[in-house]
Amino acid sequence: MPSKNSHGTSRSVVNPGEGVDGNLLIRNSTMIVGGSIVEGDLRVIGGKISSIAPGGGLDAREGEIVIDGEGLHLLPGAIDPHVHFREPGQPEKEDLESGSRAAAAGGVTSFLDMPNNIPNATNRTTLETKIALAGQKAVTHHGFFVGATRDNVSDLQSVEGMDGVCGIKIFMGSSTGDLLVHEQKHLEEIFANTGGIIATHAEDEERLQQRIAEFGHRTDITSHAECRDVECAFLATKRAAALAKDHAHRLHIVHLTSAIEADWLHNNKGDLITTEACIQHLTFDQDDVEALGVRVLMNPPIRYTEDKDTLWKRLKDGTIDCVVTDHAPHTLESKSVGYPKAPAGMPGVETSLPLMLTHAMNGKCSVNDVVRWMCEGPARVYGMKNKGSLIEGYDGDLTLVDLQTRRTITDSDTWTRVGWTPYDGMELTGWPMYTIVDGKIVHKREVDGALRGVPVATPGSTGRALQFD
Ligand code: DOR
Ligand code: ZN
Repeated sequence: MPSKNSHGTSRSVVNPGEGVDGNLLIRNSTMIVGGSIVEGDLRVIGGKISSIAPGGGLDAREGEIVIDGEGLHLLPGAIDPHVHFREPGQPEKEDLESGSRAAAAGGVTSFLDMPNNIPNATNRTTLETKIALAGQKAVTHHGFFVGATRDNVSDLQSVEGMDGVCGIKIFMGSSTGDLLVHEQKHLEEIFANTGGIIATHAEDEERLQQRIAEFGHRTDITSHAECRDVECAFLATKRAAALAKDHAHRLHIVHLTSAIEADWLHNNKGDLITTEACIQHLTFDQDDVEALGVRVLMNPPIRYTEDKDTLWKRLKDGTIDCVVTDHAPHTLESKSVGYPKAPAGMPGVETSLPLMLTHAMNGKCSVNDVVRWMCEGPARVYGMKNKGSLIEGYDGDLTLVDLQTRRTITDSDTWTRVGWTPYDGMELTGWPMYTIVDGKIVHKREVDGALRGVPVATPGSTGRALQFD
């Protein structure tokens, strides 16, 4: 069924079976180009953006897909630099195919996947396996973190600069899985002897263990944020920042959650450090934790209104570089044991762009801010060349979103293997009508069709292992 444009007439895709070479023309959309909003046409040839024509006027050529973009906003494909796709080891939660399908459905054209798998991705062999699997199964571009352990520096060195490897992940505090490096001498060794970017899960292990023991008698979920408190996070963030400075090492602090850390980084970030905030920490607070329970249980926790408000402020002033999902699917069955036994983490890769665009349409930020935080920011932080912006010569990774229609998402609309979303029941706008990778359509949605949309690409036919500067 064709979708409708703003005049209610049919939106057509000409030559729908073509375009295998990544040749495509999108006409009359509203484009975000260089921070400005312009109406016009955009052409992709051989997977690369070849021309951007404000005012339009590009004529269709033989063999290219033509999409009528009237009434839609054309954005660079979103880049989610923090997902847990669970392959290998936990296919009941996610794998690289289901995860990348979910990404594509959400307008995400590149993802960076975390190493806490079974087995953990901590050496060259496990990384090569994941990259090969993604080549066969993913429909989007992909990159992978290598996990640090207390004694794998030579393994970390062995994957440096490898295509498809985006950086080193250090869990400084225990979370899901058993990856953990918290002793100073081991951290020093890693910072001193590796290159590239280190991404830290910054929660202080000593304080964490002490507090988990103290809070052992509490079974109310509100105690989660009290137990894994702001001080746990702040201690580790300051420690990671000092290591980065002492060793002149690039550092990215993942999922920043507290006002105190965000304010501190505002004054102490320098050139070596970047950071990110999760959509759930920008959307939920203590009241949502009470209402939604273990569905929104994660580490570090959803905190308080004051923290949420400061994260928004520090995003707007540029302290926080990007907005990510920390897509961490767990089955509802595994969550059903309740707090504190339920696993921490929630899915989000397929709802991130609509959620942020809904925040934009509700006046919280601009559409251009969303592009800065979800496209340009991740590309800059991880040195992803020719991605994250609509610029001639850049890769043809695009998403065409509908900011006019609001639709309610429910668990059954999701592509993630776990089949649920913490945003169940929320009315969101900004749904991607087309997601395009290297000029090839990978996911499609119709205004009148199912909210889940339709996958277009076959596994492995689109998307590449990313390269990082
Ligand atoms: O809540 C979380 N879940 N935090 C993490 O650090 C890991 C993640 C997961 O993998 O489930
Ligand atoms: Zn994570």
